[in-house]
Amino acid sequence: MKSLVIFSSQTNNTRKLAEAVAMELDAEMVPVDQAEDLAGYDRIALGFWFKGGGPDPATQEFLPKLAGKTVFFFATHGASANSSHAKNGLDKAGELAVGAVIAGSFSCPGEVSAKVQATVAEKNPKAPWLPDAPAAAGHPDANDIALLRQAIRTAFPRSHP
Ligand SMILES: Cc1cc2nc3c(=O)[nH]c(=O)nc-3n(C[C@H](O)[C@H](O)[C@H](O)COP(=O)(O)O)c2cc1C
Repeated sequence: MKSLVIFSSQTNNTRKLAEAVAMELDAEMVPVDQAEDLAGYDRIALGFWFKGGGPDPATQEFLPKLAGKTVFFFATHGASANSSHAKNGLDKAGELAVGAVIAGSFSCPGEVSAKVQATVAEKNPKAPWLPDAPAAAGHPDANDIALLRQAIRTAFPRSHP
């Protein structure tokens, strides 16, 4: 069972998760815009950040390429963990990954700069995740990473010879 970690990250929150997943799976990690040849990989862990309540645009474009693969999603967002906003965004990723088998998923808050919060508040003051964004400061933290590692171990168990 060969695994690959693919991620999209602008401000490194999701990258931190990708590094933990790569370590846990003993797998290579590659940015989503450089992920080309998936042949030879049975399991793909795909990480993304939330934009517009779903996966970021580069990830949205990539998701249909996962057909036939067993997939684990991990994501960061300004919304709080286990919010319906977070759940709906993960569901959107699943809908776009037509023909993939979703083995599991994990998401947690990711710090949103004050500048981004101010820009979003101006453009889209009713963004449902905005009230949660200040509490995302300092995330992902060690506890988020520990929960992620647990989730990936459950979804992609180590095969024993
Ligand atoms: C333009 C923009 C739009 C965003 N839209 C959302 C959103 O719809 N929902 C949400 O929960 N967080 C949203 N966020 C917050 C980011 O998803 C969050 O900070 C994430 O951790 C960034 O990940 P990264 O550091 O890997 O780029 C947005 C951030 C930016 C910059």
